[in-house]
Amino acid sequence: MRQVLVLNGPNLGRLGSREPEVYGSASLDDLARQCRDCARKLGLRADVRQTDDETELVRWVHEAADARIPVVLNPAAFTHYSYALRDALAMRTAPLVEVHLSNPAARESFRHTSVVAGVADGTIAGFGLMSYRLALEAIAELAGLAEPGEPGEPGGAGEAGQTGDAGEPGGAGVR
Ligand code: DQA
Repeated sequence: MRQVLVLNGPNLGRLGSREPEVYGSASLDDLARQCRDCARKLGLRADVRQTDDETELVRWVHEAADARIPVVLNPAAFTHYSYALRDALAMRTAPLVEVHLSNPAARESFRHTSVVAGVADGTIAGFGLMSYRLALEAIAELAGLAEPGEPGEPGGAGEAGQTGDAGEPGGAGVR
C-alpha cells in the first residue's frame, strides 16, 4: 500500500479545544483516525503527524521528497509566512495538496496569502475534516491509485492525468 504523509503544523494539536467555532469540535486524534480510514479505502496508508516546530516540519518534507511520498499538508500559520517551508516543498518529488479546515480567504487579511500554494498541486480549504478527505482523494488520483473512470471523466481513460507528459499537471513525470 502506498504511503501518504498527512502533515499538520502549529496549534493543530489543540484541535477540539482550539476556537471550536472556527475549527470544529473534532480532536487531532479524530482527524487522524478519519484520515487513516479514508486513506485505506483509497488504497493508501496515511501516516498522520503534527508539530509546532518549523524545523521538524521541514525535516518531514525532506523525508517525503527523498522517498517520493505524496503529502497532504496543513501548514497552519506557517502557510502565511514560512519561506523555509515553501523552499522545502519546492523540492518535492510526489503529489502535494495543501489543506485548511477553515477558509482562510474568508478570514483576516493576513490569512489571504499562502506562500505554499504556488508549489502545491492544489489547495482545499473550508470544509473542516472533509478538506482532508478530499485531499486524500486528490492524492489517490494524482498518484494513479484511483479506479479508472469512464473516458472523458476526470481521471478516466484518455484524461491527461493518465497519459500526460512529465511536468504536465497530472502528467506521468516524477510526481
Ligand atoms: C488553518 C488556517 C490558518 O490560517 C491558521 O493559522 C491555522 C489553521 C486551517 O486549517 O484552517 O492554524 O490552516
